[in-house]
Amino acid sequence: MTEADCRSSVVTAPVRTAQADPSGVPLAELDPALLREQRTSIKWTRFPAEVLPLFVAEMDFAVAPEIRAALTARIEASDIGYLDSPGPLARAFADFALNRWGWAVPHDHVHLATDVATGVVESLRVFRPAGGRIAVPTPVYPGFFEMLEEVPFEVVELPLLTSPEPRLDLAAIERAFTEGPGVDAFLLCNPHNPHGLAHRAEDLAELARLAAAHDVFVVSDEIHAPLVFDGEAFAPFAPLAAAAGALSATTTSASKGWNLAGAKCAVIVAADERANEALRRLPPETVTRASILGLHAGVAAFSEGAAWLDRAIAQIEQNEQLLSELVAERLPGVRLTRPRAGYLAWLDFREAGLGDDPCKRILDEARVALNDGRHFGAGGAGHVRLNLACAPDTIRAAVARISAILPHTSKESR
Ligand SMILES: Cc1ncc(COP(=O)(O)O)c(C=O)c1O
Repeated sequence: MTEADCRSSVVTAPVRTAQADPSGVPLAELDPALLREQRTSIKWTRFPAEVLPLFVAEMDFAVAPEIRAALTARIEASDIGYLDSPGPLARAFADFALNRWGWAVPHDHVHLATDVATGVVESLRVFRPAGGRIAVPTPVYPGFFEMLEEVPFEVVELPLLTSPEPRLDLAAIERAFTEGPGVDAFLLCNPHNPHGLAHRAEDLAELARLAAAHDVFVVSDEIHAPLVFDGEAFAPFAPLAAAAGALSATTTSASKGWNLAGAKCAVIVAADERANEALRRLPPETVTRASILGLHAGVAAFSEGAAWLDRAIAQIEQNEQLLSELVAERLPGVRLTRPRAGYLAWLDFREAGLGDDPCKRILDEARVALNDGRHFGAGGAGHVRLNLACAPDTIRAAVARISAILPHTSKESR
């Protein structure tokens, strides 16, 4: 069977309707009770059946037909061996980066890693083998703290500014770079998880200027970048680093944008020739530890998955609007930071009357699993993170359950 034959036999998504997910699957079929029967990932196995799982960053949407076809074609061809290079992924990613963000990526600047977490760790090992101090804006994706346990770094948490809206605290960053022992590296999350914040280009340019001036290596995790909302600008860090002369590498993948976390293939991209020289020293195992299935899934995503991605973003934006309305109506005292990228919502429960550990109360009493803000570092206590990549009814059900345990909620307003 040729790849094309295989593709036509596999692309069986139902006709899309307004009530369908980005693959055309009726939203009613994203009922958590049904998904739990079909899927085996952490989202569906960590908690008992009565718990609504809105914690880990996995989508409920069906994988794009183009990606299913690419994966099936590789399996049909028994092509499940080791990788030796980024191959077609370099071009697919570079074309996507150029079309979507205007970032011109030389193909030989693209290197492979198992996943973005490995991309962060391996970059730090190559660029700063002696370790040192690493600055991290917080609250941030808890996985960062786990990754940084694998390298000899002392973590310097730099809370984001929160008012009037979340933003990098450039004054604090400059102080960290210039005062006392300084820092050796900076871990950027752009767009920033959990706020769904695509950092402003001018802030990133200033970060690049400071990094160049103080010899700070910046590793930029841009895993959520494909999911920037319609009309919102996304500035990749690498071109700004190259312009400022800052040493930087970007690590990203199709895994968040197209929901492929288990496919295990990411890229590390050098910002310029100097960074590329360092990345050529990555251990050869970095390539063989990436998955060939993940690579082909990534190629299909970046080269054929834009329409699916745009539909996913549109659904996430609708869900975010729904959550915002439901929070205002039914969760008194709760404050939503409105995301502009990704599919995660950051909710401040400090005034909601659920005490110091709202995540536990919500799990124990409302039977909704969210992420505990305390794991996101400085500034995270009293907050929870909620996953929006699901059917709107799942969000309605979660808010109804949480509303029912809030002390401020009268029975009538539930
Ligand atoms: C900012 C960020 N980086 C990295 C990851 C993990 O990515 P990977 O599974 O490719 O290591 C996540 C997962 O949610 C994330 O949000």
